[in-house]
Amino acid sequence: MSDGFSLSDALSTGNNPTPSAPPPQGWPSWGNQPPAPGGFPAYPGPPGTYPGAPGPYPGAPGLYPGAPGPYPGAPGPYPGGPAGPYPGAPGAFPGAPAGPGPYPAPGQPPSGPGFGPPPPQGGPAPPMKVPFELPLQAGLVPRMLITITGTVNPNPNRFSLDFKKGNDVAFHFNPRFKEDNRKVIVCNSMFQNNWGKEERTAPRFPFEAGKPFKLQILCEVDHFKVAVDDAHLLQYNFREKKLNEITKLCIAGDITLTSVMPTMI
Ligand code: GAL
Repeated sequence: MSDGFSLSDALSTGNNPTPSAPPPQGWPSWGNQPPAPGGFPAYPGPPGTYPGAPGPYPGAPGLYPGAPGPYPGAPGPYPGGPAGPYPGAPGAFPGAPAGPGPYPAPGQPPSGPGFGPPPPQGGPAPPMKVPFELPLQAGLVPRMLITITGTVNPNPNRFSLDFKKGNDVAFHFNPRFKEDNRKVIVCNSMFQNNWGKEERTAPRFPFEAGKPFKLQILCEVDHFKVAVDDAHLLQYNFREKKLNEITKLCIAGDITLTSVMPTMI
């Protein structure tokens, strides 16, 4: 990069906790630096190591245009669904004329999963259907950031994100609100219909009944990072390493969804 920043510096484990090591002192703190373009919490490396502007989603030219910020309404068709933005967060949709259209009327989702109509200009985003499925045409790739905004339902039991490779679940992120009257975040993977060993090490439970949230999943080189409301929550080391075969994100459970935006940082 022109500022002398090296991508390998940013993504190597040198700036990140090693998979098994505890985070260094002060780590992570996505919330204490200005947000990066694209809405990503500041990169948790040493000062000055922010890895640069968002770019297009590699392997899918035109699919995720390189414009900073929310998914801007790609001109190209989105595989498995109509082209166009995911509805939601301010700026997610640049206005109907910019979108490829046509868009379905509210309440008439297109065949593609989870795609909603563009929000009326200036109006609130319509909720998206849950369960929601986001196809990831080229699979995951390091530096891919998925930003999900929504609201926890009243009296929730659980919700989950599942990054899927076929029927396998590479990464299951599952906040449970009332497991034995406790709140816990369970992370796991499922291969050939068998769940592996659960990871229950999240240091806090940042979701609350009835409250809005921003959940961000960053695909790194060998792990996922999860941040909620701009604060790092946990990381999950890859058990499934064929990132390009992880081609679906499923979101289900007791939440309403406002937006789901894949970007590259
Ligand atoms: C199971 C549960 C699954 C999944 C899994 C994670 O008990 O039925 O939905 O959450 O735990 O380990």
